Amino acid sequence: MKSISIDNITEAVIKHGDGGKTHPRVYEIYTSLVKHLHNFVKEVNLSEQELDLGRNFISKIAHPNPQMPDGEITMLTDILGISQLVDLLQHQHDGTVTESALLGPMYVADAPERKMGDCIGIDEDGDKLFMTGYVSDTSGKPIANALIEVWQTNSKGLYDLQNPNQPQGNFRGRFHTNTDGKYTFETVVPMNYGIPANGPSGEMLRLLGRHTRRPAHIHFKLSAKGFTSLTTQIYPSDDPYLDSDTSFAVMSSTIMKLQKHNQSKPFYTTEFDFILSPTA
Ligand SMILES: [Fe+2]
Repeated sequence: MKSISIDNITEAVIKHGDGGKTHPRVYEIYTSLVKHLHNFVKEVNLSEQELDLGRNFISKIAHPNPQMPDGEITMLTDILGISQLVDLLQHQHDGTVTESALLGPMYVADAPERKMGDCIGIDEDGDKLFMTGYVSDTSGKPIANALIEVWQTNSKGLYDLQNPNQPQGNFRGRFHTNTDGKYTFETVVPMNYGIPANGPSGEMLRLLGRHTRRPAHIHFKLSAKGFTSLTTQIYPSDDPYLDSDTSFAVMSSTIMKLQKHNQSKPFYTTEFDFILSPTA
């Protein structure tokens, strides 16, 4: 038999993954993963102590984090840019349609049904924001009756799911566009927030000297018959974290400019149009 060595161990592990019945895609992913992991170990010349640290980190990552419904594993893939990289690879980002972004862990499918112009949440401290726009296809033709699901934080950077002081469904809504493809609703200006940093992902960010902030945003999910659904996030243009989002999800095309109106109590307006691609 041939002794296992630094030079042949990768090949041996890959060969063991082909049991004759392995699905070709599973084998492709397995092969690449083994190659990259082995190369990584060799490249950094990983010590036994560092391997143990890595094992502990992975075991801590698997523990549930009560502050994060999707858990530490999702958060880790977000802060390593893996979630957004997969999103970029799998969605159309060619400038013809609105660019997509991560769904995130705060989506709920059964948000309250709202009527055109409704206010989506209660927040006495927030600055009022009136948002409007159109949904159209790539030729500019309006899409009537498109479902728009919207969710965001309050003015303190908290979602209803994270905050017992907010009623369930606060700053969430489901709207339908009118015959002109128009939507409009009332809300408050959202606030940037830190992802939960009490677990191993937060510990890693601290070791790297990285902050935990996501720039303020409003989440949107748009669906219409005959069109590919779009999940995205829209960001106020004045947020200080646009260039350093901890989840790497900001696109220059998904930034909105808020117009301030100086009344006795100032409020803001903004417009944002969405373009959907027809299903192939
Ligand atoms: Fe979010």
